[in-house]
Amino acid sequence: MREAANLISLSGARPPTFDQAQNRRQKARAAGMNPDYWYAVEWEKNVKPGQTVEVVFWKQSIALFRGQDGRLAAIENRCAHRQLKLTGGQVNGCNLTCPYHGWQYDATGRCVHIPHELFGNKFPEFKLRDYPVKTKYGLVWIFPGDPELAEERKIPEIPELEGADPWGLIPIDATWKCHHSMILDNVSDFTHAYLHRRSKPFHDAKLTRLEVKGDTVEVDYNTVVGGGRISGLFVDRKNTNTDHIELAYEYPYQRSNTDSRIKHWCFVLPIDEQTSRAIFLFYFSKDMLKIPGLPFKVPMSFARKVVFPIAKKVLVAPLIGEDKLAVEAEQEGYNRHFEKPIAELNPAVHEFQQLTIRKWEEHLAKQART
Ligand code: FES
Ligand SMILES: [Fe+2]
Repeated sequence: MREAANLISLSGARPPTFDQAQNRRQKARAAGMNPDYWYAVEWEKNVKPGQTVEVVFWKQSIALFRGQDGRLAAIENRCAHRQLKLTGGQVNGCNLTCPYHGWQYDATGRCVHIPHELFGNKFPEFKLRDYPVKTKYGLVWIFPGDPELAEERKIPEIPELEGADPWGLIPIDATWKCHHSMILDNVSDFTHAYLHRRSKPFHDAKLTRLEVKGDTVEVDYNTVVGGGRISGLFVDRKNTNTDHIELAYEYPYQRSNTDSRIKHWCFVLPIDEQTSRAIFLFYFSKDMLKIPGLPFKVPMSFARKVVFPIAKKVLVAPLIGEDKLAVEAEQEGYNRHFEKPIAELNPAVHEFQQLTIRKWEEHLAKQART
């Protein structure tokens, strides 16, 4: 009952669709994400040989599975026969088998086996859509758009996480009950220090630069990064300038950089108008680390085993949890009051929303042409 009430306004109306939207905010809150990009959809370790995982990209259900040979595949999540979800089935060898009549699909979505006599071995060609898949940084990436563009589009380069001596990594993700544009607004808008007033990951932010370059919005703030009681313990301020942060919405991804020592990427997977998965990679140069109370440098091996797991638990997860609660409450507020006037003071938020809208319109225009 509560759920249903939160989906509609006091007058009983539902938030407008993209076509019905009357203003920039309504458009941003209804837009999908342009599918002609690589989207992080799952952690690689969560799809072991023989396992299937359902992935949803903007209402399209995709069956991600790993064959016994270790290769990943992603195909439409519906059996060509009676449209059951194939993720309800199982992997046999390198094929995915529907749970009902046992039709089998290979990694390209072709139906390759029907285990009854009606057709003998000569059944008509049933082919499901397949999606390009890649792995990088411990994540599985799917290209839900035009497959011809998959090779030219690049997954973000993160050299710090590659090579013999990668930076320390804190990976974290959560599914948020909100539109993806609200996550983008949240992670690059540093005016919400009040929400994090206990842990103070940043405070006293002043916007010093806002620039739109093609499909990227760059934003700089002067602020105190990691100045909280606990976070301050781990950051070596002698080596790291924590008075400034650069952020960017580099469509469709978001990233930050503090003095080339502390960085993050946020990869958002849009599931539907009110559900999104946010996958974060926070990564840290060894130069910025210190152990509370000790004068010497932290060896990265020790940081990986001890410092990062603790930091994830006591700092990062609670922080993301605060953002999640706030943004989910924002979604509920929007559902009830979507027609209220826009009261937005940070000019960066306007630009994030414009970019989201423009890229969705590009996709709609392309769809209309084909
Ligand atoms: S519904 Fe899938 S095999 Fe019949
Ligand atoms: Fe936040």
